Amino acid sequence: MEKTRILVTGGTGYIGSHTTVELINAGFEVVIIDNLSNSNREVLDGIEAITGVRPNFVEGDCNDTATLRKLFTDYPGIKGIINFAASKAVGESMEKPLLYYRNNLNTLINLLELMPEFGVKGFVFSSSCTVYGEPDENPVTERSPIKTATSPYGNTKQICEEIITDTVNAGSPWNAIILRYFNPVGAHPSALIGELPNGVPQNLIPYLTQTAIGIRKELSVFGNDYPTRDGSCIRDFINVVDLAKAHVIAVKRLVEEKTLEPVEIFNLGTGDGVSVLELINTFEEATGVKVPHKIVGRRPGDIIQVWADPTHANTVLGWKADTPLADTMVSAWKWQEHLREKGVM
Ligand code: WQD
Repeated sequence: MEKTRILVTGGTGYIGSHTTVELINAGFEVVIIDNLSNSNREVLDGIEAITGVRPNFVEGDCNDTATLRKLFTDYPGIKGIINFAASKAVGESMEKPLLYYRNNLNTLINLLELMPEFGVKGFVFSSSCTVYGEPDENPVTERSPIKTATSPYGNTKQICEEIITDTVNAGSPWNAIILRYFNPVGAHPSALIGELPNGVPQNLIPYLTQTAIGIRKELSVFGNDYPTRDGSCIRDFINVVDLAKAHVIAVKRLVEEKTLEPVEIFNLGTGDGVSVLELINTFEEATGVKVPHKIVGRRPGDIIQVWADPTHANTVLGWKADTPLADTMVSAWKWQEHLREKGVM
């Protein structure tokens, strides 16, 4: 039987590469488009080493309609799109808002416009728990209120969700699934793919593992005076492979036309809130490696606490994030060690 062809935009990035692996493992044929702005070609080697299959790869930018049109022509019969291609640094988005609006909105609009012409059935969108802002209540469900975005990056996620919904409501010949991720962390257990941040990491786990291996002197914990059980912020840290598997289920559902509504929205989290200090402890216990850290002031703009109610995804998708956090921390550490062995950092 011929394999179902799926387009993964941003497929050499962190979540895109893990999703590509799971798609290949599930029997899909993957076409990746990536402009390599925040990733590199070696990721394709990692994917091939894990799965035994090298995904089709187009180096190009989804901002460019001609590139996309050529891709759909060169790879006919694409049934679903999973859209990871986007800029995602909150701080950078404050400095370069137009870059964020241009990249994230144009990419989406270009893809949606081409779908009918090339007969694509389904669209999976990478959204974020950032749409809930500082929630009034935790855990948050998909019906929790959407709060005004606090960064251009966050705003692009909200606007993109609206663009998708408006287009579907106007009678698009395709359906969509919007996935709201909580905090994706860890790496593939093989340590052959993982997260590769540019420069000094802004996110907790890459900073933590780089500190543990000695690249950074110490990890700054941003605040221990929040109204939480230990004073540090609380997040829902979800294993990236668990997260990737949800995309496979989502795209399958769209391709097989099994969605219950034209736009379905799912929270992807574990359902457990874990504090920053608890996470550091879990890492140290799981790996036996100490993480030098100090408490510093709060980081402006941080949400105090947010974690998911993943019931909707658990019941409707039959999906659950079940990798223990300790295993996830071990995978993040193995990936950092792999980067050292390869001389990357
Ligand atoms: C987690 C916690 C920090 C670094 C952001 C985006 C979100 C998203 C994921 C997209 C916070 C604390 C961090 C450090 C620390 N989407 N921290 N020391 O802020 O929850 O979410 O990334 O790409 O939209 O807002 O993630 O990893 O930056 O921080 O103490 O050196 O760790 O204060 O409480 P965040 P994060």
